[in-house]
Amino acid sequence: MKHLGKIMAVLLALTLVFSLGACGQKQEPEQESEQKPASTSGADSETAEPEAKTPEEPVKLIYARGMDSTKANIKIIEAFNKKFEGRINVEFREMPSDTGAQHDQYVTAFAAGGDEFDVVDVDVIWPAEFAQAGYSLPLDKLIQKDGINMDEYMQGQRDAGTFKGKLWAMPKFTDGGLLYYRTDIIDKVPQTWEELIAAAGANKGKEGTKFGYVMQAKQYEGLVCNAVEFIAAYGGAVVDGNGDIIINSPETVKGLTVMKEIVTSDFVPNNITTFTEPESHTAFIEGQSVFIRNWPYQWALGNDEKQSKIVGKFAMAPLPKGDKKAAACLGGWMTIINKNSKYPAEAWEFVKFMCGQEGQKISAIDGGNAPTYLPLYKDEEVLAKSPHFADQGFVEGLKAAVPRPVSPIYPKLSDIMQIEISKALAGEQSIEDAVKHMDEKMKAAVAEAK
Ligand code: GLC
Repeated sequence: MKHLGKIMAVLLALTLVFSLGACGQKQEPEQESEQKPASTSGADSETAEPEAKTPEEPVKLIYARGMDSTKANIKIIEAFNKKFEGRINVEFREMPSDTGAQHDQYVTAFAAGGDEFDVVDVDVIWPAEFAQAGYSLPLDKLIQKDGINMDEYMQGQRDAGTFKGKLWAMPKFTDGGLLYYRTDIIDKVPQTWEELIAAAGANKGKEGTKFGYVMQAKQYEGLVCNAVEFIAAYGGAVVDGNGDIIINSPETVKGLTVMKEIVTSDFVPNNITTFTEPESHTAFIEGQSVFIRNWPYQWALGNDEKQSKIVGKFAMAPLPKGDKKAAACLGGWMTIINKNSKYPAEAWEFVKFMCGQEGQKISAIDGGNAPTYLPLYKDEEVLAKSPHFADQGFVEGLKAAVPRPVSPIYPKLSDIMQIEISKALAGEQSIEDAVKHMDEKMKAAVAEAK
C-alpha cells in the first residue's frame, strides 16, 4: 500500500509536470502563442482532477521594481496573491529608486541569461533596448489570445513599448512632469518660467519653508527629464520624428540657460545637484519648499497623512511655459516578462492583473499614478482620490508629454546628456559647448549603432 501510494504520487507529479510543461519551458519569442495561460490550465485542473490540484507549492514568481514610496505596489501584489492563492505567489524584490541604477542591475542579470526575476517593471525608455537584447518576451500573441483591447491603453505608452512592430512591455502607469505649489503661500500660479523664478525667490521662507523650488538635478535620468522639459518649452528638441538628433539649436541653448539660472539660484537647496525624486519629494512633504517639479505620484504622497506635513495645503498645475509652450517630459513604467522566466504563463497572469483594470486601479488610488488604462479616468473611486484625473486638460497634457528618444541605445544617449548638462550646470563648460558636445557625441553614438 505504501509503495502504491508512492507510485501514485510519482504518477501524479509526472502528470502535473506534463500538464504544466508549457509553463516550464523557455519560450522563444515566436513560440509564445503555444503557451497555456495559467488561468486556463488552472481552470482545467480544477474541474477535471481536484486531487491533482495542490500537491505542489504554488508557482513562485519574483517581481522586481524600484522603491515605491507610496506602497501601492505592495497592495497590488497582495491583491494578486489573494486572487491566485494556491496557484501563484508573487514575491517582491525592491530595487533602488534611481532608474539608471535599476537598469544596470537588470541588464547584468538578463545579460547573463538569468531567471532570478520573472517580471520586471521597466522605465518607458528601456523596452526597445531590452527587446533588441532579447531580454523580454513579446506580448502580442498573449494579448490577442486573451482578447485584451489595446485601444483602451494610452498611445504614448504603447509606442514606448513597441519595437520592430511588436509590443514588448505592457503599459502600467504614465508620468508627466507637473508643478506642485503650496496653496497657503501662492495665490497666483506662475504661468511662465520667468514668473516661477520670481515667485520662488519672493516666497522662499514663508510658512517655514527653506526653499522656493526643488527639482531633480543630480546627474542621472531625472536630470534628462527636467532638461527635456526646458528644451521643449523654449522650442528645441532632442530628436525629430525620424529619430535624428537635432539637439544643437538656439532653442535648446535658451531652455538650458533658464534651467541653469534655476539650478544656480539661491532659492533651491545648495546641494540641488544631488537631488533625485526622493530628496525633492521629501523636502516638499516636509513643508520645506514652496514649489516642486515632480510626477503625478507626488499628489498621493503629499496627501498621505502618515508621511506628509502639507496635507490639504498644496495643489498642482502644468509646468510653466517657456517662450514657446509648456512641456512635460513623458515618463512612466511598463512591465515585461523575462524571456528566461521558467513560468511565462504565470508571469503573464501577473502582468495582466497588474497592468489591467484591477492593478492599475490600486496604482491610481494608493499610488496617485496616472493610469494608462483609459477607462479608469471615469472610475468614481479613482476620481474621488485624484479629482484631477477627471480634468480633460490634465489628461490631454499627459497625453501630449514629450517623449525621450525611443532607441535601443537610449542609455548611451542619456549618459551623454547627463554628463554634458551636469558640466554646464556646474560651470565647467558653457551651455553652448554642452549643446555642441551633446550633438556631436549623440550623432556619433547613433552612427556607431547602425
Ligand atoms: C519617473 C519616470 C521615468 C523617469 C524617471 C526619472 O520614474 O516615470 O520615466 O525616467 O522618473 O527619474
